[in-house]
Amino acid sequence: MSQMKDDIKEVLFDEEQIRNKIREIGKQISKDYIGKDLLLIGVLKGSVPFMADLIKEIDIPCSIDFMAVSSYGNSSTTSGVVRILKDLDFEIEGKHILIVEDIIDTGTTLRYLVDYLKGRQPASIEIASLLNKPERRMVEINAKYMGFEVPDYFLVGYGLDYSEKYRNLPYVGILKEEVYK
Ligand code: IMP
Ligand code: MG
Repeated sequence: MSQMKDDIKEVLFDEEQIRNKIREIGKQISKDYIGKDLLLIGVLKGSVPFMADLIKEIDIPCSIDFMAVSSYGNSSTTSGVVRILKDLDFEIEGKHILIVEDIIDTGTTLRYLVDYLKGRQPASIEIASLLNKPERRMVEINAKYMGFEVPDYFLVGYGLDYSEKYRNLPYVGILKEEVYK
């Protein structure tokens, strides 16, 4: 059995770069939401490492919840159809919502989620995404907190998967084409 790192063409962001970036974002969120009822909503499963590290860098009270959504299929390209697999545990009316995501690619997932959650009357709704792949954008979406801009390569690690694997890599890297071609 080969090691995961043999499938990585190039590391884009290592553990230290990610840690420093998340620290900055956490500080900013702590300033922006002071005195507000903040609820972070992680999009399963890709946001799990980011969510876990981000909340430790936020030093104001906040709650967390998770949603699971799926675009049909599990190929390396998204289909554009979004389906809710797990909804929130609690009401969000009057709360300040921050959706936590691993990457904004076409924008389809977050566009759908933002519109869906807006219908429940939160006080505000914003997005924190670790990565942003602007070249692939198909719908408009604005993230208040964005970690790194990335080129149009298929990435894995730090939550990002290929066929549910590689999420546990502590860094973000480009997956070798021969792995998925
Ligand atoms: P969007 O709806 O096209 O913005 O896609 C969002 C979702 O697609 C992300 O939450 C990821 O799960 C997945 N995704 C997009 N780009 C990549 C990538 O480069 N590697 C792994 N997953 C990706
Ligand atoms: Mg995802």
